[in-house]
Amino acid sequence: MYTNRLFALLVVALLGLTGCQSARPDGAPLYTQVVAADQPLASQAGARMLEQGGNAVDAAVAAAFTLSVVRPQSCGMGGGGFMVIHLPHAASRDGTYVDTAINARERCPGGVGSGTFEASTDPTASTIGGLAVAVPSSVAGLLHAQERYGKLERSAVLQPAIDAARGGFIVDSAYMVVAADTIEKFRAEPSLQTRFGFLWTTLLKSGGVREGDRITNPAQAVALGEIARSGRAAFYSGPIADAIVRATRDAGGVITHQDLQRCMGSGVSEVPPLRSFALGHTFLTMPPPSSGGVALVQVVSMLGLRGADRLIGVDEPAFAHELTECFKLAFADRAAFMADPAFSPVPVHGLLSKGDLAARAGMIDPARTHGPERYARSSVPAQSRPDHGTSHVSAVDRWGGACAATETINLSFGSWVCAEPYGFLLNNQMDDFTTRRGASNAFGLTQSDANAPEPGKRPLSSMTPTIVLDAYERVEAVAGASGGPRIITATAQALINALVRGDDAGAAVSRARLHHQWMPGTLWLEPLPDPVDAARMTESLAAKGHAIKPAKGEAAVQLITRRGVQHGESLATYTAASDPRKGGMPAGTRAE
Ligand code: GLY
Repeated sequence: MYTNRLFALLVVALLGLTGCQSARPDGAPLYTQVVAADQPLASQAGARMLEQGGNAVDAAVAAAFTLSVVRPQSCGMGGGGFMVIHLPHAASRDGTYVDTAINARERCPGGVGSGTFEASTDPTASTIGGLAVAVPSSVAGLLHAQERYGKLERSAVLQPAIDAARGGFIVDSAYMVVAADTIEKFRAEPSLQTRFGFLWTTLLKSGGVREGDRITNPAQAVALGEIARSGRAAFYSGPIADAIVRATRDAGGVITHQDLQRCMGSGVSEVPPLRSFALGHTFLTMPPPSSGGVALVQVVSMLGLRGADRLIGVDEPAFAHELTECFKLAFADRAAFMADPAFSPVPVHGLLSKGDLAARAGMIDPARTHGPERYARSSVPAQSRPDHGTSHVSAVDRWGGACAATETINLSFGSWVCAEPYGFLLNNQMDDFTTRRGASNAFGLTQSDANAPEPGKRPLSSMTPTIVLDAYERVEAVAGASGGPRIITATAQALINALVRGDDAGAAVSRARLHHQWMPGTLWLEPLPDPVDAARMTESLAAKGHAIKPAKGEAAVQLITRRGVQHGESLATYTAASDPRKGGMPAGTRAE
């Protein structure tokens, strides 16, 4: 999925960062309410809701539905997602105080079991075509959030997406990177052009799509209009449901009307967010089946316990080593323990207990890295009490409410299957399951048997929507990302940059990042803008034993940070940034 072109795009983006690296909060635009998405029309859709009196949930939902149209390679009505919401009394619909997490992750269809993919002779069965499609839950999740916590009418929140589908979006370089990669595959195997006709003719313009082209999708406007009028029933029953069942069946899949009905009834669950205190801040983030929330909290907690945050700005290579070791420990636990907690117990409280975090942090050797076996555990930690294509939207409203929403159809353009004639692609989230024991998935992640497909189960995810609060429960940051497992490492680094370095949002998302996911044993490194610093970083990490490669397929973070606390300030102000690696742009109300 990732190409040299993407790497080139990153390098160009990062070379342009020298200015951003030194950007100060005073130089960045300040907002009183703002949305950061990875496509400008989506941010503008959210900002339109804020201007109409909507809250952060209305804004995030409007942006997410718009992303379905303008980022069809990343997310949409055919996918799923997670949302973390924090609403003080004034921000909520009915004056209640809300901290919640919404789980709208797709589920395994009833007709797929743990041996389905192992029995298949097609190595692409979990990534391309009908069998790759898990039951789409995005529409149920977004409507659940909006109807329960938004302030506006559903029809108002859907309108920007309908407008975008009718009016179209302009193809940008981020779209072209994945379009060009997909066109290459379709040219190499021309039968794909007829098998996945909507993707080929409409989204790839029969192989001729160019940067600057406009892509309209009146078919998706019809589907969105039906949802605006009739709510989730319009998607999970009737002609749209018929289209989903037909499209997946024709492409070799097994989704039934019962699967869709189940999703409408109980497809969305609401749970308390993970709440943890680390580095002087409270993190509200997503519990399993996201692995991202647990991993993020492990990483920032271990850094804090080691005092490694104090290395920032003092000895950056030493900090990079400590951070990498934290990532390796967290990803080893991800591989061993993470799955859908509705099907297998996940020892969240054990993994996040002070004792376990201290023990794991104590394993880090500041002098060198070690082989993968050192990071893997021999036993499950005791419970302390019972118990790729992707897109992210961060939103804050004028009342201090916040919403972090991550949506995905998994790999670029999902399964390539379109729910014709409704103009939206269906996910290939089945690849996030452990489809073949012992084998890694498209992101190179090895995962446990507890994550094998089972009817109704949700695949493990790396999505990490996160809200950070201060001691007074005021929003300090809203973050999340796209990028498979890089979501976890990128979100952690952007938040560390904002919270520890004191970066404004633009500088925090723009800094060069690193990625390590325990297996394979590679440390992917983006180059620092200054070649002398870059060489020192690489040499120092190589000397500690890290196997370094240039970064590839980097994540795109959408970040909002509150400007330094101003005593007596009646209205909070924020900086906001869409990651330059994917080319979005925030939109909102500027402070006077
Ligand atoms: N499909 C990417 C993730 O959920 O991690």
